[in-house]
Amino acid sequence: MDRVKTGISGLDYLIEGGIPMGSSVLISGGSGTGKTILATQYIYEGAKKFGEPGLMVTLEGNIKNISWNMENFNWDIKALQDKNLMKIYRLNLDSLRYAKSVDEQVEYINKELETISEMVKDMGAMRLVVDSTTALGVWIKQDSSMRGILYRFTNALKDFGCTTLMTSETRGSRNDFSAFGVEEFVADSVIALYFISPNRSIFIRKMRGTNHSKKIHPFEITGNGIEIKFKDELMWQSMKE
Ligand SMILES: Nc1ncnc2c1ncn2[C@@H]1O[C@H](COP(=O)(O)OP(=O)(O)O)[C@@H](O)[C@H]1O
Ligand SMILES: [Mg+2]
Repeated sequence: MDRVKTGISGLDYLIEGGIPMGSSVLISGGSGTGKTILATQYIYEGAKKFGEPGLMVTLEGNIKNISWNMENFNWDIKALQDKNLMKIYRLNLDSLRYAKSVDEQVEYINKELETISEMVKDMGAMRLVVDSTTALGVWIKQDSSMRGILYRFTNALKDFGCTTLMTSETRGSRNDFSAFGVEEFVADSVIALYFISPNRSIFIRKMRGTNHSKKIHPFEITGNGIEIKFKDELMWQSMKE
């Protein structure tokens, strides 16, 4: 099976060398667990180490904030953006927020999917990130429509031919893998991040076609981003909730 190396320190050791090419991975975890950093680093390392173009679609904050966030790290994102190896696209949620009906929202989401698809083609993106799917879900007008729309959106991403990471914000408990319960169902793989002070940790919940680590591994966020201590393991018991 062809695999896409994440390039994130320690992670590829846990998943037989990388993510199955063309599949989708849900990165789940509570607020501040490192989802955005991991997703950005996936795009960054792909461009930097392997010359693979990547598109990051953000539904949270603004582009300035993200760039500022990333300037925290020793990553030269600007050079990669100039070479068209890395692109950040902000999906503006105001149109969803102020839409008058669910139909209008669906129409808007379809339009955005088309835009993303065009950008993927234009830059020949091999890696795609959507951060976060939770932000999309909270603006869907009717609860009864939300799951359907979120399902269609996340499912549509799979047709773009990229190896895709999407993030979902949970309440952070051990067996909570998505905000709305749809995302973990659509995704081929689920990786959970935890931050139970003082420990940050990562757990591969499922990965299609992969004999992945079943352990909980500690990680750190350093000036170079996420570094997973793949040889170390934490016990569930030590992770008080
Ligand atoms: N340069 C850095 N060095 C160490 N830790 C950092 C750095 N930048 C951010 N962090 C940590 O990462 C957290 C944010 O991670 P983020 O990926 O935005 O979380 P999430 O997307 O899961 O909400 C911050 O709360 C902080 O603890
Ligand atoms: Mg985030």
